[in-house]
Amino acid sequence: MSRDTKITLPESEIPTHFYNIAPDLTTPLAPPIHPATREPLGPEALAPIFPMSLIEQEMSQAPTVEIPGEVREIYRLYRPTPVYRARAFERLLDTPAHIYYKSEHVSPVGSHKLNTALVQAWANRQEGVKRLATETGAGQWGSALSCACQLMGLECMVYMVRVSYDQKPYRRVMMKTYGADVVASPSTLTAAGRAVLGTHPDSPGSLGIAISEAVEDAAGRDDTKYALGSVLNHVLLHQTIIGQEAKTQMEIAGEYPDIVIGSHGGGSNFAGLTFPFLRDKLKGARKALRAVAVEPSSCPTLTGGRREYDFGDTAGMTPLLMMHTLGHAFVPPAVHAGGLRYHGSAPLVSHLLDAGVIEAEAYGQREVFESAVKFARSEGTIPAPESAHAVHSAIRHALAAREAGERKVILFNLSGHGLFDLSAYDAFLGGSIA
Ligand SMILES: Cc1ncc(COP(=O)(O)O)c(C=O)c1O
Repeated sequence: MSRDTKITLPESEIPTHFYNIAPDLTTPLAPPIHPATREPLGPEALAPIFPMSLIEQEMSQAPTVEIPGEVREIYRLYRPTPVYRARAFERLLDTPAHIYYKSEHVSPVGSHKLNTALVQAWANRQEGVKRLATETGAGQWGSALSCACQLMGLECMVYMVRVSYDQKPYRRVMMKTYGADVVASPSTLTAAGRAVLGTHPDSPGSLGIAISEAVEDAAGRDDTKYALGSVLNHVLLHQTIIGQEAKTQMEIAGEYPDIVIGSHGGGSNFAGLTFPFLRDKLKGARKALRAVAVEPSSCPTLTGGRREYDFGDTAGMTPLLMMHTLGHAFVPPAVHAGGLRYHGSAPLVSHLLDAGVIEAEAYGQREVFESAVKFARSEGTIPAPESAHAVHSAIRHALAAREAGERKVILFNLSGHGLFDLSAYDAFLGGSIA
């Protein structure tokens, strides 16, 4: 077993392909359906908003998809990201468990979101697109796409959920530094935004509303397409680079995780870390592996939602997806983990939950911040509030291992740092987080 605290890989170990879980599912995924015809959606229906190569990935049954050379070249800026053994954290928790974390927070934009943003910007540019429109919750996805668009020579328009726009001014500045246009959503720029403002002038916004605005923007302009930071199959596919690297790193550590944990907003972060490990479980090799998706109890999509066909956005402009959902009209409370405020869950993650392959947990804000502070005080890195949900779950499992006297191996994804979320930490430290 490796004694290293930081398990790194050379740039030559950046994966060459993404892992597609779709062909490994034991039952087929329910297809997206057209809102008007209620028939399964053909590729042409998505063509106004996505480039064809991403639509192909969305529907692909190929076991792997090659990573474009230019994207791999840019990945070298920050990939492979390290896996850390959280020794001080283990000591603090006095647990026999071995706790590891994959550190996606080291990307230039501070989270895992750049992994897919670069592929999406590249794929759009290949097909002659000049501008991308998107939504952002906490600002993590918006900053990632703004950065990727700049690096790939595209313009970027970001609809940022109002509550985050107000809570996180520096994320806005970051996006503008990368050259993007940023507007608070609901905005007056789109019919969807104006409709919400008409009935709720003080609306805090939601990812669902911001998606409606971005899709409307893209559908209304020839030079623009839409980019989504989570939920869809192709986005989850791109994030599997995380778990593939982590598998190699765990081999170097000489351990295989008993439990893999990721926070869950739309599902791409959780999927990114866990799907390459779940491949082993689906193939029958690691039947006991537990994969845990962690969400806020105020937006309990997986633990409290129903699995049914629902719209991805609030205005009902997107295809219907078979997913765990709280209903597309659900406007979650303004919790600090803005990136976890989404009414739905990726169809792939929802499918695996229903099939009993994965598990879900939900926690309150205050306990999550308590855990985040423990982590920061032992490992040094201040986690993003979203990632702190995974930290909290890791603590619970480490303490359960102590109770049971078992030496479990726990791996979680530190999907982002919280250096733009210090106002949330300030509220927690000041005692004003309920
Ligand atoms: C740092 C961080 N972690 C996790 C998530 C959850 O994302 P996903 O939609 O990939 O589940 C987000 C979403 O914005 C995030 O910013």
